[in-house]
Amino acid sequence: MAPNAPQGKIEKILSCAFAISTKESAALELPDFPLDNLPLAAKVLENNPHLSPHSVLFRLYPYRAFLKEQISHLESLLSSFDVKAEAPGLYSNFARRVRAFLEGPRQSQVYVETDYQNGLIEEMLQSESVADFCIVGPKGCGKSLLVQQVADILGKQTENIVLYQDMTARDLIQQRTTLDNGDTVWKLSPLILAALEGKIAVLDGINRIHPSTLSVLHRLVQDRELQLHDSKRLISSDRYQFIKENFGLTDQQLEESGILRIHPDFRIVAIGEPPTTQSPTGNWMTPEVLSLFLFHEVRTLSKEEELHIITSKYGPISRPLHKIVELAHILRNSTDQTLNNLSGHLSTRQLLRIAARMKNYPTNFAFDSIQTTFMVKFLPSLARQALEKTVQKLGIVPEEDYSEDSPIICEVRDNIVTIGQSSVPVYKTTHLTKVPNILFYDVPQHLHLMEKMLQDFQLGQHLLLVGNQGVGKNKIVDRFLELLNRPREYIQLHRDTTVQTLTTQPTVKDGRLIHEDSPLVKAVKHGHVLVVDEADKAPTHVTCILKTLVESGQMILSDGRRIIPTASQETAGEHHIRIHPDFRVIILANRPGFPFLGNDFFGALGDLFSSHAVENPSPGSEVTLLRQYGPNVPLETIKKLVRVFGDLRNMADQGLLSYPYSTREVVNIVKHIEKFPDADLEDVVFNVFDFDRYSPEVVETLGEVLEKHGFSSKNVMTAEYIAAKRAKEKIQVTVNRYSGLDTKEPKHGKEDPDNAPHVGGNTWAGGTGGRDTAGLGGKGGPYRLDKGHEVHQLSDEEKNAVPDHILRAAREMGRKAFQEKLKEIGMSGYDATLYNQFYNNVSRQVQSLRIILGNLQAKNKERHWTRHQTGGELDDVKLVDGLLGEKTIFRRRTEQEPEIGAPQLKPKIFRVVVDVSGSMYRFNGYDGRLDRELEAAVLVMEAFQGFEDKIQYDIIGHSGEDVSIPFVKLKEPPKNNKERLDVIRKMHAHAQYCWSGDHTLEGTESAITSLAEEECDEAIVVVLSDANLQRYGIPPSQLAAALTAKSNVSGYAIFIGSLGDQAERLQEKLPAGRAFICSDVSQLPQILKQIFSSSVISTL
Ligand SMILES: Nc1ncnc2c1ncn2[C@@H]1O[C@H](COP(=O)(O)OP(=O)(O)OP(=O)(O)O)[C@@H](O)[C@H]1O
Ligand SMILES: [Mg+2]
Repeated sequence: MAPNAPQGKIEKILSCAFAISTKESAALELPDFPLDNLPLAAKVLENNPHLSPHSVLFRLYPYRAFLKEQISHLESLLSSFDVKAEAPGLYSNFARRVRAFLEGPRQSQVYVETDYQNGLIEEMLQSESVADFCIVGPKGCGKSLLVQQVADILGKQTENIVLYQDMTARDLIQQRTTLDNGDTVWKLSPLILAALEGKIAVLDGINRIHPSTLSVLHRLVQDRELQLHDSKRLISSDRYQFIKENFGLTDQQLEESGILRIHPDFRIVAIGEPPTTQSPTGNWMTPEVLSLFLFHEVRTLSKEEELHIITSKYGPISRPLHKIVELAHILRNSTDQTLNNLSGHLSTRQLLRIAARMKNYPTNFAFDSIQTTFMVKFLPSLARQALEKTVQKLGIVPEEDYSEDSPIICEVRDNIVTIGQSSVPVYKTTHLTKVPNILFYDVPQHLHLMEKMLQDFQLGQHLLLVGNQGVGKNKIVDRFLELLNRPREYIQLHRDTTVQTLTTQPTVKDGRLIHEDSPLVKAVKHGHVLVVDEADKAPTHVTCILKTLVESGQMILSDGRRIIPTASQETAGEHHIRIHPDFRVIILANRPGFPFLGNDFFGALGDLFSSHAVENPSPGSEVTLLRQYGPNVPLETIKKLVRVFGDLRNMADQGLLSYPYSTREVVNIVKHIEKFPDADLEDVVFNVFDFDRYSPEVVETLGEVLEKHGFSSKNVMTAEYIAAKRAKEKIQVTVNRYSGLDTKEPKHGKEDPDNAPHVGGNTWAGGTGGRDTAGLGGKGGPYRLDKGHEVHQLSDEEKNAVPDHILRAAREMGRKAFQEKLKEIGMSGYDATLYNQFYNNVSRQVQSLRIILGNLQAKNKERHWTRHQTGGELDDVKLVDGLLGEKTIFRRRTEQEPEIGAPQLKPKIFRVVVDVSGSMYRFNGYDGRLDRELEAAVLVMEAFQGFEDKIQYDIIGHSGEDVSIPFVKLKEPPKNNKERLDVIRKMHAHAQYCWSGDHTLEGTESAITSLAEEECDEAIVVVLSDANLQRYGIPPSQLAAALTAKSNVSGYAIFIGSLGDQAERLQEKLPAGRAFICSDVSQLPQILKQIFSSSVISTL
């Protein structure tokens, strides 16, 4: 097959391939090796004998992209055949060809050479000459650019095809359409056209497409043959030639019999992002896909490479820009998952955009760019803290005297628009009816934003505005366009928006199907500004279509027409729409993150746009704005309203309220008061809130806010206002004491009926600083007993001096007492008062945690379209089929069923590790840490009820005696209050009776390693601790290592009690975002939410 390929290298590759495929390797659970592709390896080697066996093998089996833990196993297997990764070999013929091209007259304006990318281009050319290939690399690392280079060198044209999730095999090959005379015909897809014309079909986003759709490619790739829906057949040019010659047929005769020739130059190049190996559902690089292509892995660019590209394009790099590049690389190389996920926002693409901006609008401050690039305000607070810490370490600080409320000019004079320091000429247009015309009051905050938008427009960029609902995004955009005199086209997306509706609007006229231009097409044609509203509502794969449009200026409409870039060489035919140079897109999306539902548009496509956050108005701006709506409303009233709404928004941002109280509502209130000055302010406000819609907990929260600002909430509180605030705990002080007396024999001690404080008398139960009796702070006693008195603590030396036999006896007695206690718990009835003491303290938190968990669950149950139904909504794609009498032309929203054969969705596991060591009991009186821990347990047990199919939890404890004490077992959650009460009673008993000592570290390690072995999609471990590590000489680095020991388990520590600033100091030393301080149990849901959201981010 490849007679001249170097024999030795081929043998090595064969050995490796078969070693991977043997049964013995089955234990490694490696995906099948694509043995059928071995001839391709031979051909590549024959053409390029200098290549190393490893580099050729890697093209067939790019294990680094789809394996994780097994990489090292596999590499040791390979090295046993002496196959190792090596530095790239010598320059080949191709390299010379690349050189000649790059130095030739057609030198590309876009591509800046780097050795690494030149090497990749060379390798791709090698593969291209024998087979179809696939490029795998992270977002925005230069994949598309490299493919374009390859095509340019070969002098081939590309056809970019964006793949999306619900694409059908039919979308990929052929669709039905009608001609002007009403006939229906099959229309060839871009892929098929590329095959016939010998282009390179670039399938962008192969990681998104459903495997079943991809299977239609198999015959096309492997045999260069394909059966079309209209019974035509594509065959390879060899076979075509063979048939033609053997049967003496002409091209015309063959065409009439439905045989089409695939052009020999035709190639498929697939582009995909590396699979997220954590979840089995995320791995698209299945054995089937491996058998389709040769693979090339692309990494993100190194700092030097990136700096080189930026300087080549935009000249010397300023200090702030340098800082930003540095930040990008710190994030990319970070082992912290949270930081690493953020690095996507500083892709090469984004860095180049920032560079362009800084070149035109120089600044001394990197801070502002970072704020906008990451939309820092909207990051989940966990990610935000982690980022801020990193930014601070780099010495990036905010600009000092900048205020978003500072006055700023905005005027249109002599056909020049000026906002702040920036000016542009007013746009000339004949479509004046499309220019928005609105009522707008200048608010400094908004004008500052508009100045930035103006600059972006000048730089030719498309915009993305993200902000809370009702914060004024539409108003700002409309006003902006009005000032510039730019016509607007508007589309609003929703969750049922499809790719088709984005591009054309099909209607049936006189029995014929007419595709009307969608607003998008109109904007492209006439150079209008396309405003895409609520972009986050549409499925991400729909909005991905916007990607090619914005990025490469290409798009294929569902009626077969094609949008081509402004500067395209192609002659614009009837089916081509050339993009008007003035065309711009402004996308509006609601703030991303959690628990805001909707798709994270910003996360998916944010780096393609110049993005800006539209924030809630600052108090100053909001007052200014409201005064203009209500000039006669007393200023005091306005200020009061602004304060109330400010508070409410903060709470909404924290997830305590689910409704974002927007400017829209306050404006309505003010307008109303302006119109009816005699109306009762309270009534007006209460009307806006429409309390009926809320649960009692929310009503209560709202009531508190209103009351705080001087409203009387009696009007709304139907239920009694329960101020069930826990009585402030009596602070117990610890006094060091030296007794100087010996211990004799451990005993419980006498019960004092008056419960008077006893210090060191060796008589009473519950004394402190004594010997032999049960109490606190003493030595030699059998167990702890807290009677609520000030604690007199013996020194450690004195404690250590207690003889062994006494200790043993004390321990024995403690153990017995503990056994009895457990028996007692087992037999006791349900004590409602006791349970409610704990429950009442967390009931509201239970509610808010349940909202959070409910949203988590919703993420899993994504609904999708089921097509080919006999009832439901009309499916645009099948309109023509409908006209032809087909019945299955409807589609319905259904919950996504797991595909047959797809791995079962495994539940998430949430494990709480509780500290039930003696210090929890001992210092409970000091800061209520044990109570808080028990409340936390109640919170978890109550809140997780009913979510078992998606999230399972368990509670495991550790104490001075044990490393792993199961309090709640997986899949056996307590079923009722009695069982829940028993759980916390047992925890309490452990803390009271266990021997002193600490196993926080061992407990954490064991909890995380044992969980790593469980079958689950995602595992979170939360360690509740009192930060008392120092006492037992545990360095924080060890806890950090324990928390991050397993890549498939995210570990977090929550410090729920500490002496002095122990917890703060410890938090400092742990990885960013892994440690939290919780001084009040009401903070727990917030903290858990942060933890959940950061783990949700990591699955995006
Ligand atoms: N050598 C280079 N010279 C000039 N620009 C480069 C170079 N390498 C990368 N870029 C720039 O990096 C950005 C990202 O490149 P490209 O769009 O090809 O990435 P991608 O991997 O296809 O991204 P995505 O995953 O989002 O499709 C582009 O703006 C591109 O111009
Ligand atoms: Mg790309």
